[in-house]
Amino acid sequence: MLKGMNVAIIGAGAIARSMCQTIRGMKANGRPVELYAIASRSQEKADAFAREEGVEKAYGSYEAMLADPKVDLVYIATPHSHHAEQMKLCIRYGKAVLCEKAFTPNQHQAEEVLHLAREQGVYVAEALWPRYMPSRWIINELLAEGVIGEPRMLYSNLCYAIEHKERIMDPALAGGALLDLGIYVLNFASMVFGDDIVRINSTVELMETGVDRTETITIKYRDGKMAQLMASTAFNSDRRCVIYGTKGYLTVDNVNNPGWIEIFDKDDRVHPIRRIDVPAQITGYEYEVEACLRDLQAGNLEPVEMPHQQTLMLLRQMDALRAIWHIKFPFEDKSPFTDMELIER
Ligand SMILES: NC(=O)c1ccc[n+]([C@@H]2O[C@H](COP(=O)([O-])OP(=O)(O)OC[C@H]3O[C@@H](n4cnc5c(N)ncnc54)[C@H](OP(=O)(O)O)[C@@H]3O)[C@@H](O)[C@H]2O)c1
Repeated sequence: MLKGMNVAIIGAGAIARSMCQTIRGMKANGRPVELYAIASRSQEKADAFAREEGVEKAYGSYEAMLADPKVDLVYIATPHSHHAEQMKLCIRYGKAVLCEKAFTPNQHQAEEVLHLAREQGVYVAEALWPRYMPSRWIINELLAEGVIGEPRMLYSNLCYAIEHKERIMDPALAGGALLDLGIYVLNFASMVFGDDIVRINSTVELMETGVDRTETITIKYRDGKMAQLMASTAFNSDRRCVIYGTKGYLTVDNVNNPGWIEIFDKDDRVHPIRRIDVPAQITGYEYEVEACLRDLQAGNLEPVEMPHQQTLMLLRQMDALRAIWHIKFPFEDKSPFTDMELIER
């Protein structure tokens, strides 16, 4: 059985540095994880990254790193457009994968990756971090206790002014707000209300490059519940979530990485009747790494917290939204969404 886990990273960029901080923190807490290797398209960049972040090995090619038998888990930290090809490469080398969100730009690419992973018996996980966090279970347990009565409606937003980033602006890199930020609000709605959706409506503002800048999304579920969501790359927002129930409402301070949850009863909109702080964390990314460690030790091929079906379900919703907006990426010859079931009812 795997005792310790050597983590290797593809892509020496911004989020890769947060992962390094996470692994260092986990190791300092006595967890059996090693910050083992970094691979970049440039050896120089890999060397500098390894030196600055304390990574043991630096590779100037992704394949050279994948050929290293000491690598246990590969964390893919590159633009969305490159995830599918890089995951397939890892799978062909027999390496377990933790891939950043969005898993792939569309459902079809994800199906191809997951098919190969099943065929080769290789572990693959989507690094959608709130799925692995304790806040997810805290919120669901509070709702199950009935603290706000029956939940009927939810609201969530996630907006960051990030249009200086090439991967956000460029359609060839599967840019736009949806795959970067919208995925979090869709995921929050999915974690709370599930995925039995009867209709999705949306309004979008496009960037000059043709990808989505700002969007509002309304989801209606079969049981009549509704979700109202917003994402944008043009400005910062409060990132708040509210779940409205028949006896009160529950707020979450940050959809991306919840810090606390407050409960309000229906009569007092100012003073919460209860506040729950989520457990202290290193960065918040440690929970997805712990899940990979548990899964590799248990011989699982997908995470319990983020099953492959869930990855596909969110991609189906994002494909539907891009169909509403008439956005297809240059590497797609047609809109990836063909059944129209969610959007034309
Ligand atoms: N979970 C979170 O909180 C969070 C936060 C931010 C981002 N993310 C996700 O993490 C991923 C990477 O985001 P990031 O902000 O770290 O990206 P980034 O810094 O822009 O780029 C990361 C790496 O991707 C490669 N890359 C960049 N542009 C490329 C291009 N045009 N063609 C080929 N490779 C390219 C480079 O790897 P080389 O070193 O090989 O050159 C680069 O170092 C995305 O999937 C994003 O959604 C997640």
